[in-house]
Amino acid sequence: MPHPVMDQLKEAVDFIRRQFSATPEVGIILGSGLGNFVHEIEVEKEIAYSDIPHFPVSTVQGHKGKLIFGNMPAGRQGVSSKKIVCMAGRFHFYEGYDATQVVFPVRVMKQLGIKALLLSNAAGGVNPAFSVGDLMIITDHISFDTRNPLIGKNIDELGPRFPDMSEPYKKEFIQKAKSIAQAKNIKLQEGVYYGVTGPTFETRAEYKLVHILGGDAVGMSTVQECIAANHMGLPVFAMSVITDLGIREEENKITHEEVLQAAKEAEPHFATIFRELIGAI
Ligand code: HPA
Repeated sequence: MPHPVMDQLKEAVDFIRRQFSATPEVGIILGSGLGNFVHEIEVEKEIAYSDIPHFPVSTVQGHKGKLIFGNMPAGRQGVSSKKIVCMAGRFHFYEGYDATQVVFPVRVMKQLGIKALLLSNAAGGVNPAFSVGDLMIITDHISFDTRNPLIGKNIDELGPRFPDMSEPYKKEFIQKAKSIAQAKNIKLQEGVYYGVTGPTFETRAEYKLVHILGGDAVGMSTVQECIAANHMGLPVFAMSVITDLGIREEENKITHEEVLQAAKEAEPHFATIFRELIGAI
């Protein structure tokens, strides 16, 4: 008996293929405030999440909620144009979706044929060396404070019961991103992303604890998508924009607006790295 999620995936994938038949090579998920990246894409087809069978619908301010198919044009010499599928807006556990729903689009993109998944997010910095506006390559994550999307009967058709997570973010992609940043003179941090459910930003004590536990940045997305991708053997690259600092002075409140604004300001550098990386992988 196939796992019931396989039927849902098939319906979603069949629906999408009827709208747009080309096979994407790279999947991208855009985080809060990073939606402008869609302007880098030569768009061929847009499909609203609300039209796709079994897709949840995004409710967060700053998220658009559509799947965009197109080409990432060739960049510098030797870098080829790539067929991509981009999620402008993602699903978060704090919106009330279960973890399986959160990762449904990742599974759909894999079934559509992507060979690499690029994730992005806004995150709070807890490493004292970080500043607002920094970009951080995610080298590893801690997901104990989120719901694992693989809980439940394993979907054997997608991957093993106990997936290895020793290289959740592909080293080769990390190296490439670092070379790109160096060549373009873009400052890059790297570190461990600590996944939480949200929707509250952390208390002072929680930010401090996240750092003690080994996190460099904390955020409400990404880890579940990364787990689902690793389950399927899909290599991942992920980058955070540090939009606020958890280790803060007194009276420094954090707002969603501030997070969006900081992400928007860091967006050009973020876009350069993603664009060049897509060409290079
Ligand atoms: N904490 C959790 N999630 C976030 C933060 C934060 O400080 N900033 C942006 N997303």
